[in-house]
Amino acid sequence: MTIAIVGGGRSGAAIARAVQARGAEPRLLSRSTGFDVLHDDAVAALVGSDAVIEATGLFTLNTRKALRFYAGSTTAVGTAAARLGLRHVLLSIVGCDRSDLQGYGIFAAKAEQERVARRISADTVIVRSTQWFEFAQQNAERFRAGPLVLVPAMRIQPIALDAVAAVLADAALGRRTERDIQITGPDRTTLLAMSRALLRSGNGHPVPVPLPGRYGSGFRTGRLLPDPSAEVHGPDFRTWLHARA
Ligand SMILES: NC(=O)c1ccc[n+]([C@@H]2O[C@H](COP(=O)([O-])OP(=O)(O)OC[C@H]3O[C@@H](n4cnc5c(N)ncnc54)[C@H](OP(=O)(O)O)[C@@H]3O)[C@@H](O)[C@H]2O)c1
Repeated sequence: MTIAIVGGGRSGAAIARAVQARGAEPRLLSRSTGFDVLHDDAVAALVGSDAVIEATGLFTLNTRKALRFYAGSTTAVGTAAARLGLRHVLLSIVGCDRSDLQGYGIFAAKAEQERVARRISADTVIVRSTQWFEFAQQNAERFRAGPLVLVPAMRIQPIALDAVAAVLADAALGRRTERDIQITGPDRTTLLAMSRALLRSGNGHPVPVPLPGRYGSGFRTGRLLPDPSAEVHGPDFRTWLHARA
């Protein structure tokens, strides 16, 4: 089987490994492989694949830009998948539809992306994950000011990206048949604590930054935490960090 993965990046590589580990062939589609999801023909790009995992990403603080990107990505991928009769698996974020967090543009856009996916097909599999262990690294790359790394204050229950990738690959291969899947890691922590542990080797000094408004308060007070019904997937952060070293 061939599984298309739209969106390269950190998650794309992990998903490709998980697909390969299950004996299927990954096909990475993003601008660096010649496919722009907002402008190119998604039907032509997906012909020959058996399923598609959508993991495109754009980091922006501009809500309109985020909405255009995420809704546009899923309009293209979802419509093409429906036309070709492919299973469509969408990677999303736990809590992105919570009303008090909509002031954060990426969450408003991810919630709209989910609605677009559902409007196109009731069968789309939406996998919502909490923040990844790798998110601390992504944040350190995005918000560095000299030796300082600015770390948004947030309580989270993070998960290893490889665990997320395994669930996405299983869903794409039809080994999971639910339409809504919510996954998280085993332990609660803060992005600051994770950043401190990750950057211990002198790779930057993490400084906590409270984000403004209702969503900032929500991030600090646990509104990013999963529902009690979320599936818990290991490893825990300490084990992951140790294996990484
Ligand atoms: N980070 C987390 O903790 C977390 C948690 C839960 C869910 N998520 C979600 O997971 C998804 C993927 O996140 P990520 O961190 O892997 O993102 P990422 O590292 O920023 O990668 C996203 C990829 O999307 C591709 N892309 C961007 N614009 C594109 C376009 N116009 N056409 C085709 N491809 C395009 C880029 O590859 P090219 O440059 O090659 O185009 C980029 O590498 C996002 O939707 C995010 O919201 C993230």
